[in-house]
Amino acid sequence: MPLATDDFLDIDDVTPAELDALLDRAAAMKAGETDPRLPDATLGMIFEKPSTRTRVSFETGMTRLGGHAMFLGPDDIQLGHGEPLRDTARVLGRYVDGVMARLFDHEDVETLAEHADCPVINGLTDEAHPCQTLADLLTIRETVGEDATVAWVGDGNNVGQSFVVGAAMAGIDVAVATPAEYGMNPAVFDRAAAFGADVEPTTDPEVAVDGADIVYTDVWISMGQEDERAEKLAAFEGFQVNQELLAGTDAKVMHCLPAHRGEEITNDVLESDRALAWDQAENRMHAQNALLVELLGGE
Ligand code: CP
Ligand code: NVA
Repeated sequence: MPLATDDFLDIDDVTPAELDALLDRAAAMKAGETDPRLPDATLGMIFEKPSTRTRVSFETGMTRLGGHAMFLGPDDIQLGHGEPLRDTARVLGRYVDGVMARLFDHEDVETLAEHADCPVINGLTDEAHPCQTLADLLTIRETVGEDATVAWVGDGNNVGQSFVVGAAMAGIDVAVATPAEYGMNPAVFDRAAAFGADVEPTTDPEVAVDGADIVYTDVWISMGQEDERAEKLAAFEGFQVNQELLAGTDAKVMHCLPAHRGEEITNDVLESDRALAWDQAENRMHAQNALLVELLGGE
């Protein structure tokens, strides 16, 4: 089923039925049941921020599909030296078959999509990380199952915001616990409500974790927030995912990585059998390969 959208800027750019089909396709590709190709296709990858998983999974994924990915860091292209984003978008769109971009401002990825005459994929902005959500949903399907209840504990950040909407689309119950001053954009809960979810955020991690099959956390200090470190560390006291918070539960633990052990999660929890983080990381590639085939038009 081809996607109705030309771009993938956040998870609800696709419909719940399209999301379901994307995850089916990802699972089939991962199992080797289908082997769709994107021969000779080139993906331009713009990075304003560093990355391990996003860069390597997209680059390896394009190779596996028979295409090619091109890394474009801030010092590699004129964008980092004053060329306007819209000009970069227009020019790239005339060469490549798709653009994946990791940017600071979410509006910038929208500008890119508006001016590039090719599909644009959001590889993380300050507001959203929809490719992570695809991998997360695939991981939940494979492990606990989509009747899982998930507790998001920590910062109301890009990863959490896309996850809450994506989980709603997949029919997964989510509880959210953040400090009051670092909550999610209220529009996220409205978007989740459009898919039937009723998410009541709390400031108490124990309330969110009660009854959860999975506890999901991410760093407290996201890329670009380094100057807020001291005040954020103080605000997140009590939000660490540790043995005490998980005591009496057999909940699995998700983390998009990279993790800051000793801050949002303890070393022993991340190194325990509870952790799904490594499956999440692997599934980035499988989920994105399915997305690339759909968006770029593979067979
Ligand atoms: N989870 C994630 O996007 O990781 P990277 O920052 O390494 O790409
Ligand atoms: N919230 C983190 C996710 C990194 C993949 C950040 O934006 O830095």
